[in-house]
Amino acid sequence: MTSDRHPPDKKSIERVDQLKTEIEAHNRRYYQFDDPVVSDAEYDALMTELLSLESQFPQLQTADSPTQRVGAAPLDAFSKVQHEVPMLSLGNGFSDQDIEAFIKRIEQRTDIDASALEFVAEPKLDGLAVSLIYDNGTLVQASTRGDGFNGEDVTANIRTIGSIPLSVPASTPSRFEVRGEVFISNQGFAQLNQNAQNNGEKVFANPRNAAAGSLRQLDSSITAKRPLLFYAYGYGVFPEQLLPETQFELIQSLRDWGFPVSSEIQLVEGLQGCLDYYQELEAKRATLGFDIDGIVYKVNQFDLQKQLGFVSRAPRWAIARKFPAEQATTQLLSIDVQVGRTGALTPVARLQPVTVGGVVVTNATLHNFQELQQKDIREGDQVVIRRAGDVIPEVVHSIVESRDPSAIPFIAPQHCPECESDLEHEQVVIRCTGGLYCPAQRREAIKHFASRKAMDIDGLGDKIVIQLIESGLISTIADIYTLELDQLSKLPRFGVKSATNLLAAIESSKTTTLPRFLYALGIREVGETTAKRLADHFADLQLIMQSDEQALEQVDDIGPVVAHHIVLFFQQEHNLRVIQQLLDSGIHWPQPDQIETVSQLLQGKRFVLTGTLQTMTRDQAKQALQDQGATVSGSVSAKTDFVVAGDDPGSKYKKAQQLGVQVLTEQELFDMLGVKNQE
Ligand code: IVH
Repeated sequence: MTSDRHPPDKKSIERVDQLKTEIEAHNRRYYQFDDPVVSDAEYDALMTELLSLESQFPQLQTADSPTQRVGAAPLDAFSKVQHEVPMLSLGNGFSDQDIEAFIKRIEQRTDIDASALEFVAEPKLDGLAVSLIYDNGTLVQASTRGDGFNGEDVTANIRTIGSIPLSVPASTPSRFEVRGEVFISNQGFAQLNQNAQNNGEKVFANPRNAAAGSLRQLDSSITAKRPLLFYAYGYGVFPEQLLPETQFELIQSLRDWGFPVSSEIQLVEGLQGCLDYYQELEAKRATLGFDIDGIVYKVNQFDLQKQLGFVSRAPRWAIARKFPAEQATTQLLSIDVQVGRTGALTPVARLQPVTVGGVVVTNATLHNFQELQQKDIREGDQVVIRRAGDVIPEVVHSIVESRDPSAIPFIAPQHCPECESDLEHEQVVIRCTGGLYCPAQRREAIKHFASRKAMDIDGLGDKIVIQLIESGLISTIADIYTLELDQLSKLPRFGVKSATNLLAAIESSKTTTLPRFLYALGIREVGETTAKRLADHFADLQLIMQSDEQALEQVDDIGPVVAHHIVLFFQQEHNLRVIQQLLDSGIHWPQPDQIETVSQLLQGKRFVLTGTLQTMTRDQAKQALQDQGATVSGSVSAKTDFVVAGDDPGSKYKKAQQLGVQVLTEQELFDMLGVKNQE
């Protein structure tokens, strides 16, 4: 680059500054006020001039330059970000009574007359929450909510969203965090899917998925082409002394600083104000141009919010009032029976495609045969379909009046529809007894084994699993590790490149963890959490395999039913053979002594938790402690090292004091765990 030899001249420095300010001002007019004052061509000319100066003098190109909105070089993976203030969720309300109860709870806790209580009522945007950190006026980090404690660093992608300010006025705090929702308009969604369809790519099921899929792109130049929008609605890290007194003032400040905020946000008073707003917004919902799934009510005064605090992971000072699930009527073409991984048979409705809440629905669940019989839903019926948020659409009922008189009641199968095996009835669930003899169970077991939370074999998705089974290359999970390049590359739609990639992913899945491996085996009732608990407790696969029910029931949250399923699983010859083959193929995980050196800071320390924690459930705190080698028990004794006291601690707190056991506050616990808390 010539820049090393030619430092920028004063004129260029000034012009770059001027261009940045001018272009961002145009961005703001365009995105925030919908009132552009230049033509596209004029805007492009300014941008081209800036790009050319920056390429001449790369040292003038800063993170807050509007040229950075086009996207940066693709990443291999997102890095993790720990939220300094956890990003919590909201409790839900579904009726006027739920809102009344919410306000009553506040009244009782604060002694404030509810009719005078001020709330900020906001649309509940149906996108994904993000955190934006500004340092000395510049956007320095943007992350997704993740699990509320840790998210993904999506800074490069967020920079491409035109309406999000890359820099903020000098009057803002030197370091602060804005929170809000990234979403996509209905029009943007339709356009995106139209393009995807034209290019033969996968279409998104709904605007929320489209927004999430666009934001979580490793290649930010793709995100730059997506019509993402953003509304700010809150804060995270923020200097106490500079924080306005109310949520409403915060929203106004955010707007003044250049953040887009919804024009529907209103200050309302008491229950009646909340209910009126609901009616108003529900009536407007279809004309907003983007999806909302309800309303969020927040206590306006921040000091009152602080006084109210949190319960579990949701604030006591806010609630989401959800709109009712959307419904539509269509024809039930047929009822198919699906066999799942555990052999459970589920009736599935195949429907004449119908749009429900902006999504085309072709399948819906009928839950189980008992419900199907009780509701007397018949093939050919006109049926009402309901879809709420992310949940699988369901058939609510048939419209009996319009039923064809020749329609006959549905009869549940007498044998497994996939393998003809006998069925067993377990309360409302009908299950195939074929186990891994049943092709459906085998297929589902392999899909599960390869899935993200299990062995995480990138590229071994549902379709490829089916292709590999159908071509006879695999029939058990162990066969995955016997696949070879020349076998794979001969398959239709496979080339040498994709076959090589898949084999590399299979190879790298061999380095795993014990919880993942246990979960991947697909033992009935052993989900991710149970697998983790088993691994933490026994730390050794052979020990788990040899344990009887009694030993297994020593593990937290494992009762007789789960213990029985585990024992049964390890009694099956077939399963033992497959596990041996998997281990022989080189699957391995760190041994306990290797784990200890990583993070076992609280090794051997005994904790007792009492009272309500503000920012995490007791289970989460327990898990976090156990992850660092501590044990958590239910009662205080002289052997207890620490008692963690949340709100309203009980007798355990007193006992700790009597015994002289050290008592920790929630904040002190967080410090020990290395997590930063609210205040
Ligand atoms: S406030 C502790 N305000 O809803 C308060 N959230 O269920 C947390 N959301 O993760 C959030 N619109 O993704 C808030 N006006 C709004 C919102 C909103 C949508 C989402 C957000 C959050 C989820 C919580």
